[in-house]
Amino acid sequence: MSTTVEHTKWNASLYDNKHDFVFKYGEDLADTLAPKAGERILDLGCGTGHLTNTLAASGAIVVGIDNSPEMIAKAKQEYPSIDFRVLSATDFHFDESFDAVFSNAVLHWVLDKEAAIDCMYSNLKRNGRLVLEMGGKGNVESIINALKKTLQRRGFNDNAAKQVWYFPSLSKYTSLLEKRGFRVTYAAHFNRDTELKDTENGVKDWIKMFCSSYLKNVDETIVNDILKEVQDELKPTHFKNGKWYADYKRLRVVAIKPPISAK
Ligand code: BEZ
Repeated sequence: MSTTVEHTKWNASLYDNKHDFVFKYGEDLADTLAPKAGERILDLGCGTGHLTNTLAASGAIVVGIDNSPEMIAKAKQEYPSIDFRVLSATDFHFDESFDAVFSNAVLHWVLDKEAAIDCMYSNLKRNGRLVLEMGGKGNVESIINALKKTLQRRGFNDNAAKQVWYFPSLSKYTSLLEKRGFRVTYAAHFNRDTELKDTENGVKDWIKMFCSSYLKNVDETIVNDILKEVQDELKPTHFKNGKWYADYKRLRVVAIKPPISAK
């Protein structure tokens, strides 16, 4: 998943086994894209390639890119007929441009959002469409706040101060797209309380999978105490009817690269 301040080393199998909701929710975004046979489509931040494969099933010519070599290795192994490449969301160029750029649950990892928007714009054909979903303002806020508070209580102030994600408001992100020349045709910012797979360790597993930057250089036994503390704190609000939930907030946007640039 795309450019972060620190490169996250992904556990591609853990991602597929316990966090498959990421690409399962993306199926709906693929319907919004409505890929057609013969179209050239870029899946930006393709992870282990499941949605890339869904897009390819339409007969579109799909290229999947991700900056994680671990994710791309798994994608290639699973879907050998699809073109997957290790590339950064903020620095890619294809000689042949695309009819559509698709991106699910990735762009919030990209802190240099202007560079990513510029790459998406530059690699689209005129009239090409951008269909994206990412974490929006307030995304997983209570989990992150609880984790930061616990880190601070234990003296890990530098870890707690890290900026790992970019969760923009609808107006901020659509303004950036418009500034680059996109015409935004649809935008929504909505809640998606997301059920976590493990009924015992749901929040702990989520933090282990996605928050490694916050836990960098923290001793393993202390990490376990921190995870327990955070999960216990969130139990009254995030544990319902025997299941753990994460307070996801999504930003979904459709935009077009106009026939003649606004710039
Ligand atoms: C998200 O998809 O919104 C997300 C996933 C992992 C960490 C933070 C946000």
